[in-house]
Amino acid sequence: MEQPIPKIYDAAQDFLPIQGTDYIELYVSNSRQAAHFYKSAFGFQSLAYSGLMTGRKDKESYVVVQDKIRLVLSSPLQPGTDIGRHIDEHGDGVKVIALWVDDAEKSFHETVKRGAKPYMEPMVEEDEFGTVKKSGIYTYGETVHLFIERKNYNGTFLPGFSKWETSYNPEPVGLKYVDHMVGNVPLGEMNKWVEFYQDVMGFTQILSFDDKDISTEYTALMSKVMSNGNGRIKFPINEPADGLKKSQVEEYLDFYGTGGVQHIAVACENIVETVTELQARGIDFLHVPTTYYDDLIQRVGEIDEDISDLKRLGILVDRDDEGYLLQIFTKPVEPRPTMFFEIIQRKGATSFGKGNFKALFEAIEREQELRGTL
Ligand code: FE2
Repeated sequence: MEQPIPKIYDAAQDFLPIQGTDYIELYVSNSRQAAHFYKSAFGFQSLAYSGLMTGRKDKESYVVVQDKIRLVLSSPLQPGTDIGRHIDEHGDGVKVIALWVDDAEKSFHETVKRGAKPYMEPMVEEDEFGTVKKSGIYTYGETVHLFIERKNYNGTFLPGFSKWETSYNPEPVGLKYVDHMVGNVPLGEMNKWVEFYQDVMGFTQILSFDDKDISTEYTALMSKVMSNGNGRIKFPINEPADGLKKSQVEEYLDFYGTGGVQHIAVACENIVETVTELQARGIDFLHVPTTYYDDLIQRVGEIDEDISDLKRLGILVDRDDEGYLLQIFTKPVEPRPTMFFEIIQRKGATSFGKGNFKALFEAIEREQELRGTL
């Protein structure tokens, strides 16, 4: 089941070398208010802006940053735009998972040659700070991957954006980088997208879970985790499995209308401090029953953290052969029960918290029950 990422990674053999997640763009109904939310509640910092003030008439975008994580929040400025249609169909959600590459043109041709559907032909953007090359392909649903080549650019974000300076700058909460991003796809499509990441993007499957691993009395899902060669990009892909009632993946698909990003997992270095701060700033998390902590040490062994802190905050723990991890999940951050965030701290573990799935899904089902969608 588990295949570790090859220890020897040869970039020269990788037809799609990726340096990391460049940015994540969300299409939202009110980018200005969303930016305020991500700053105030999640501790992101103002970075860049594009819109009426920079001469752009159709779209307003705010870019916020925390350590290596950049979010672009975009809304339409006119009726009849593709962003407006996207929001109408899917609600607020992730449109672009941008990947930082050394060669945007090669990334495009290598993936399109292997079957990717083009989204953006290779193009060059330029301003006084240099040039950026971009290209893009579709992945599941309406989600796209942009390839961003920025080695000849030293501006704030991208050409077309101006630096966003403001006197309102809440402190960061310690979020460091994107650990993984999970996609939900319709029943029967998981293997198609696993093959897409394998054949078109050169990723490897590193883990898989089936309904025996991930099921409760009512709901189930199946999941396979895809990683690129150097391990910097990890994309688990979920599909619903049969259960007595509607699974959380089905609920997502009903409200999103197609496959899409289910959660963005962001890593931190002190989860107790980070989650304490996030809760103080009003972020709602899923809570597991306090009985989860009764036999925690028997299940996961000794850990550095104080169990009473984890119990107070609702932080979960899981162990694999390489170490342990701590994680917690927010409730959806938009009106539809679709996208949410995971906060994760890895202490050696390279897995995704399989041991927590059951407790977690029962917590999600309690929420579904309240929404009347179970
Ligand atoms: Fe996750």
